[in-house]
Amino acid sequence: MPPPETLTITQPDDWHLHLRDGEMLRRVLPWTCRQFGRAIVMPNLANPVVASADAVRYRNEILDAIPRGVDFQPLMTLYLTENTDPDDVRTAFEEHIAVAVKLYPAGATTLSDAGVRDLGKIYPVLEVLAETGMPLLVHGEVVDPDVDIFDREAVFIDRKLIPIRERFPELRIVLEHVTTRDGIAWVRDCERHTAATITPHHLVINRNAMFKGGLRPHYYCLPVAKREAHRLALREAATSGDPRFFLGTDSAPHPDSAKESACGCAGIFNAPNAMAVVAQVFEEEKALDRLEKFTSLNGPAFYRLPVNAARLTLQRHETPAPPPGKIDTAKGSLTVFDPGAPLYWSIEGGFPGR
Ligand code: DOR
Ligand code: ZN
Repeated sequence: MPPPETLTITQPDDWHLHLRDGEMLRRVLPWTCRQFGRAIVMPNLANPVVASADAVRYRNEILDAIPRGVDFQPLMTLYLTENTDPDDVRTAFEEHIAVAVKLYPAGATTLSDAGVRDLGKIYPVLEVLAETGMPLLVHGEVVDPDVDIFDREAVFIDRKLIPIRERFPELRIVLEHVTTRDGIAWVRDCERHTAATITPHHLVINRNAMFKGGLRPHYYCLPVAKREAHRLALREAATSGDPRFFLGTDSAPHPDSAKESACGCAGIFNAPNAMAVVAQVFEEEKALDRLEKFTSLNGPAFYRLPVNAARLTLQRHETPAPPPGKIDTAKGSLTVFDPGAPLYWSIEGGFPGR
């Protein structure tokens, strides 16, 4: 059967997003608002969002940057440190200031230096999370230099996640941007309270993309893309309809000057074409009937939030979109994720990024 020319689904949400602040926030946010009703906003700013007062301030800045007349709700997170006050976390959740807490192992990624070195130090916070049902969002990579970068996620699961899961059976955990079949298997092995986000780019690229004909900084992110067998496991999980897997774009803007450098930053900016890429993947997997689960239904169910009332129409075109270009920002150009293969989908009203 040929794919439909339009597909209307419950408006999606982005369950993992980097928006930054200042001018960059104002440049990137409209792309997200065109597609998504809500987004979980990551707290790794230069001054990380550690306390509920920071989250209130950051939320106000985001609300100010939403284009006029657009309905969009930022869902805030707190950046977990070894000094996080468990009472402040409880207040943030009970007063609807933040919906989740983000665990960055110190040194694991962009602006993670204030993150956690000794997990034992955050047990009092994890107790509050287990008691209240506030989710712990995990950047699941060990930072031990002896561990090969491609094994960091699998080793994190063995050394950190399995013990945390055992010690806090009621803790609600999201393994963010899962990149391995080990991660998928771990989520499926946990009896309950466990989910994972999957990015558009990890559904499309494997680690070869970073080295195709030369070094390709715009395919470098963390966790780094893995070998093909892992990408296939992610595609199977995302398109399976399993409620434990949902979309988190991990769209992470860095100006080209910071990416195309002797020491380039990690992060892929995919906000403009996120839904088009995901729809393309679901078409290829003959799973368009399960797209809505992945983008719009599974996430709200895990976060115990209502699904969006609005709907989004996707259009399938006969000719593919031109390759995505660059966006101008005050810090210079910003490259949009290029899936490297034709994209036939757009959101209603035109090709993504145009
Ligand atoms: O590639 C990434 N970029 N991974 C992260 O965990 C952080 C993100 C960013 O903030 O740039
Ligand atoms: Zn991220």
